[in-house]
Amino acid sequence: MSFEDMKTEEFRRQAHDLVDWMADYLAGVGDYPVRAQVAPGAIADQLPAAPPKIGEPMAAILQDFQDIVVPGMTHWQHPSFFAYFPANASPPSVLAEMLTATLAAQCMLWQTSPAATEMETRVLDWLRQLLGLPDGFHGVIQPTASDATLAALLMARERATGDKANDVGMAALGADGVRLTVYVSEEAHSSIEKGAKIAGFGRAAVRKIATDDRFAMRPEDLASAIAADRAAGMTPACVVATLGTTGTGGIDPLLALAAICRREGLFLHVDAAWAGSALVLDEHRWMIEGIDAADSIAMNPHKWLLTNFDCTAHWVRDPDALQRTFAINPSYLTSAETGEVIDYRDWGVPLGRRFRALKLWFVLRYYGAEGLKAMIADHIAWTEELAGAVAAHPDFEITSPRSLALFSFRYRPRSFDAQAGEDAALDALNERLLQTLNDSGALYLTQNKVRGRYAIRFSVGARTTTRDHVMRAWEVIQTTAASLSTGG
Ligand SMILES: Cc1ncc(COP(=O)(O)O)c(C=O)c1O
Repeated sequence: MSFEDMKTEEFRRQAHDLVDWMADYLAGVGDYPVRAQVAPGAIADQLPAAPPKIGEPMAAILQDFQDIVVPGMTHWQHPSFFAYFPANASPPSVLAEMLTATLAAQCMLWQTSPAATEMETRVLDWLRQLLGLPDGFHGVIQPTASDATLAALLMARERATGDKANDVGMAALGADGVRLTVYVSEEAHSSIEKGAKIAGFGRAAVRKIATDDRFAMRPEDLASAIAADRAAGMTPACVVATLGTTGTGGIDPLLALAAICRREGLFLHVDAAWAGSALVLDEHRWMIEGIDAADSIAMNPHKWLLTNFDCTAHWVRDPDALQRTFAINPSYLTSAETGEVIDYRDWGVPLGRRFRALKLWFVLRYYGAEGLKAMIADHIAWTEELAGAVAAHPDFEITSPRSLALFSFRYRPRSFDAQAGEDAALDALNERLLQTLNDSGALYLTQNKVRGRYAIRFSVGARTTTRDHVMRAWEVIQTTAASLSTGG
């Protein structure tokens, strides 16, 4: 038994070949079906149940990658990917990820890679400036927006309990009658409820506040919910405002929510996971009026801003409070510089940290503010054009108005009977339409329930998308829909 490592020359050769594969893949990604066209279990069936006993040549591994893995992938960089929100990558970001993988540093402490820590601080401050966020916010890269939300909820919990929950636990506080509540819009992302479960608030503590006709939280309803909770002996702790809700693109009225949080002494977290990228454009900065009062803000460069998953930018007003929430100081994790430098291990849940700042640095330098603005502005303009065409079509209707590069619609043929049961039949028809479209591999869309009714989301945001792809998608939607209504 001996350890046979890959020799440098073999690594060099394999890496060169792989880069060729990567370049060809990115150039031809539009030729794949967007959504994987495989049945459940199809990939697992091709993977041996037991691990290899002896090592295999790279050629065999790569052949299986091509034959087994690639057909089982959904191609998120495809120009006709209009599902979910984008998870954009870009060539400079991919190159940086190659370097990150090669350096393979674990960047938990300043000392374990000073460049990673110092670049993270700098690049998040660049991004803060690019998005027009005010001074006085301190940045950290969290793996995902869900992690940022959890961190914010934990900070809110500590603020509301005078830093006691961390020490004695929520159960002990519960016995003293402290019952914390969290406020979100009914359109907010499920990660907030998940965070509330993990942070010990409990799902029942999450108050889902009604939204207006643009799917934005109603501040007067927030104020009444807080008052009702106080009257019932609860301790309101946190408001999570969403800029760009996942289903409908709703943008909560930050200024009004901030005023309520100030008055009530509540922690304010802003979830701008998707829409935050649009802040590169001045004309969308109305969304952040009132942001000065936020305690915590998160947005995802790994969605629309061309940076490979995963990379969430998280800024907090009070980094000491964040560190108090997370810090544990065993002796093996201290270094000579502890206290003098930033040790990001204390700014979130994981101890170990990848060098994520590198890819963001590559992206911001390669595209510059102007490049990012141009891409986002195009996506928004094409979405506006498409939403206009859908609204004008007599057989389709908009179910949630365009917000930035997202809207939702449903097919509602003129011939459709307006009678009892219509809504359920329309739901079924639209579900069938979506399935047929996604099964075709020509484009990929996702569904949503808007005010309880089935709707199809259209979200533009892939780097590779052009106006032609958007318009072609609309043609495919119309012809597919027409074939459904006539062909049954
Ligand atoms: C508004 C919003 N918040 C949070 C999330 C969760 O993002 P992540 O996957 O980074 O946890 C999403 C994901 O789409 C989202 O749309």
